[in-house]
Amino acid sequence: MKNIVLIGYMGAGKSTVGIQLSDRFQIAFEDTDQVIEKRQNMAVSEIFEKYGEESFRTMETELLAQMAEGKGRRVIALGGGTPMRFENRERIKALGIVIYLRARPDTIMERLSGDTSRPLLRGGGARQKIEQMLKERGPVYESLSDLTVDTDGKAFENIVDEIGGFYEAACNKRTEP
Ligand code: S3P
Repeated sequence: MKNIVLIGYMGAGKSTVGIQLSDRFQIAFEDTDQVIEKRQNMAVSEIFEKYGEESFRTMETELLAQMAEGKGRRVIALGGGTPMRFENRERIKALGIVIYLRARPDTIMERLSGDTSRPLLRGGGARQKIEQMLKERGPVYESLSDLTVDTDGKAFENIVDEIGGFYEAACNKRTEP
């Protein structure tokens, strides 16, 4: 049985969808940002300020390696930047069925409006930053995913149904003779 691995840009809904999927399948939910924050006893933004982005990226890579050892089926939400380190990509694929939650810049702007917890979007020009990063990241997210789900204008409930159906089918396919 495989894990469900959620990837995608900030504000795509990975945490919300992840929690709902974990409820639906009665399996644990892990969010890499939350695990790192707990370990460091600091918010991601503070980690960026105190140690710099590269140190945070190394924490993500180390955590990913540890997650491969984890027991039991889980839903895992990865930070939006995790797939961008080349060395993380094989690990992400090996972790389970990878779902890309895709969102357009407008949707991201809307979902993140008033949010100050994302250090990469601070300092103005958020829309331009989002567009630029999506250009770089979109193809990487696509290349890793078993399923891409467009989230724009969709209720989380419908997104969860779509992923749930795909996941069940994928698990059944694997157990057929
Ligand atoms: C980041 C995404 C964030 C967090 C950090 C960097 C990124 O996670 O890891 O602020 O590079 O996209 P979410 O995708 O959960 O917001």
